[in-house]
Amino acid sequence: MATMITLPRPPFFMILFLIVLLPSACRCADPDPLQDICVANLNASISVNGFPCKPLFEVKSDDFFFDGLRNEGNTTNVFGSKVTSANVLDFPGLNTLGISMSRVDLAHGGINPPHSHPHASQIGVIIKGKVLVGFVTTANVFYSKVLKAGDIFVIPRGLVHFELNVGKGKALFLPAFNSQLPGIEILATTLFASTPPIPNDVLTKGFLIDAKVISDIRSKLGS
Ligand SMILES: *[C@@H]1O[C@H](CO)[C@@H](O)[C@H](O)[C@H]1NC(C)=O
Ligand SMILES: *[C@@H]1O[C@H](CO)[C@@H](O)[C@H](O)[C@H]1NC(C)=O
Repeated sequence: MATMITLPRPPFFMILFLIVLLPSACRCADPDPLQDICVANLNASISVNGFPCKPLFEVKSDDFFFDGLRNEGNTTNVFGSKVTSANVLDFPGLNTLGISMSRVDLAHGGINPPHSHPHASQIGVIIKGKVLVGFVTTANVFYSKVLKAGDIFVIPRGLVHFELNVGKGKALFLPAFNSQLPGIEILATTLFASTPPIPNDVLTKGFLIDAKVISDIRSKLGS
């Protein structure tokens, strides 16, 4: 004789909890891949979320290899820093895998200026030097730390952050991201050097400053 098991009906508030809270508990970045490999065909004429896969018979070991982070970046610029990226556009083997990285070279006193990665959280390790890293939350709280070689720091997705070389020599920082294309918005260039430019009125009113200050910033950013 079969035993009938009657499950108790879950209380209404539990169902509500599942519906309302579970989706917001997800801190996902890129969606999961649907196959082992999907080396990006960056030249495909169709546009999808990510890139179409190049045909399997064309895939080689070199598609999963990238040596573009070997060399020190040229830090001779206004910020004294150079970010060399290894995202899906540089390294098509990352397509659909939800990861990427870059190298940040900082000259003495150099800064990777305040910026955000809209698509990714960042975890980064200092390889050389002494670096002040910090981010600001949506509650406007600033969290920061001075890091030495071997130390790592995490930047939650989308939050504005920076890296400043506070050591005696050069510094090297290797950040990794939970997105194949973390995206970057550098506040200074986003606001003062966009194409076409944001109207001066927006910036004078938004920052409570004179037009002179704005043209000064624009010219220093080479815009
Ligand atoms: C895309 O096109 C460029 C030149 O137009 C070529 O060098 C590159 O190999 C192509 N990439 C792929 C994945 O087909
Ligand atoms: C580094 O960049 C500066 C400024 O663009 C340039 O003048 C210089 O030649 C570059 N140095 C090297 C080694 O490429």
